[in-house]
Amino acid sequence: MSENESYEQSTVSVIGLGQMGTRLAQAFLTAGYTTTVWNRSAAKADALVAQGAVHAASVEAAVATSPLVVVCLPDYTTVSDLLGPVAPRLSGRVLVNLTSGTPEEAASMAAWAAGHGADYLDGAAMSGTRLVGRPEALFVFSGSPEAFASHRPVLASLGNPVHLGADPALAPVYDTALFGMAWGALAGFYHAVALAGSAGVDPAAFAAVATEHMPFVTSLMADHSRQIKNGHFPDDDGTVEVHAAAMEHLVDTSRARGLGTDVPELIGSLLDRAVATGHGSSGIAGVIETITKGERNA
Ligand SMILES: NC(=O)c1ccc[n+]([C@@H]2O[C@H](COP(=O)([O-])OP(=O)(O)OC[C@H]3O[C@@H](n4cnc5c(N)ncnc54)[C@H](OP(=O)(O)O)[C@@H]3O)[C@@H](O)[C@H]2O)c1
Repeated sequence: MSENESYEQSTVSVIGLGQMGTRLAQAFLTAGYTTTVWNRSAAKADALVAQGAVHAASVEAAVATSPLVVVCLPDYTTVSDLLGPVAPRLSGRVLVNLTSGTPEEAASMAAWAAGHGADYLDGAAMSGTRLVGRPEALFVFSGSPEAFASHRPVLASLGNPVHLGADPALAPVYDTALFGMAWGALAGFYHAVALAGSAGVDPAAFAAVATEHMPFVTSLMADHSRQIKNGHFPDDDGTVEVHAAAMEHLVDTSRARGLGTDVPELIGSLLDRAVATGHGSSGIAGVIETITKGERNA
């Protein structure tokens, strides 16, 4: 393919057909979009070709054939190594990078893409692979608002595409923040299952009751985010001191049953630090001060 040759056969190209890239390509195909795929190990394209995908013979061909180029690779270095040699082909296209990385890497890749005349969207798949293609699968994007607006219908085949803003670094910021948040909830859940299990409770039975409890927990987020914005922490949901004492009961009960206490001790240490730095009588969202100021006990 020569430098001046320009033909577009596909709506979207997907480069990298690992677990995630394969699901992305499947979702585009299911939505009826002409989809070109490329993967280092060519055999991984076979099942997608059977579903109607076009198999590009090279990375360059994959880039040249679509106005929307989606990459999903292990890291940004791999993305740079693969796209670097074909960078001139990106001109006039939109590069969507669903590779996990840091805010700094996203900013630097956006600048690199702009230097080659491409619009850039950084993105992150927030619902693992299992929900991809369903409306509840959250995908966050940041970068060129124009690129997002023009390709939104195609990106919506992946799930629920949310544009976070023009700063390309926002997607990895949300990605890591939401990952940490999900792990906080899951770590609490795993500990709770173990504690309930020590009383003979079946994990599925516990999960059913825990799921009923979650709407209350998520309802606190809107209210507490307002408190954080205002810098005012009423004790409507209990004080830091009261919760610190309750967390100690959880540690003691867990220890008495021979369970690991890593999870409640971690939360307990945050609450204790908040008490020690003068936030004991604040509402629980007051721990934000301990986190943001990195406050330490004297
Ligand atoms: N899987 C998930 O649940 C999930 C969820 C959210 C985000 N992500 C992110 O999505 C990205 C991809 O993850 P994945 O789970 O799809 O990974 P994966 O299953 O391990 O696939 C990795 C892909 O990268 C390709 N690759 C690796 N090194 C390469 C190189 N040097 N040159 C060319 N291609 C290379 C592999 O090609 P070969 O087939 O030739 O090895 C394969 O297509 C990661 O950044 C991950 O953090 C994944």
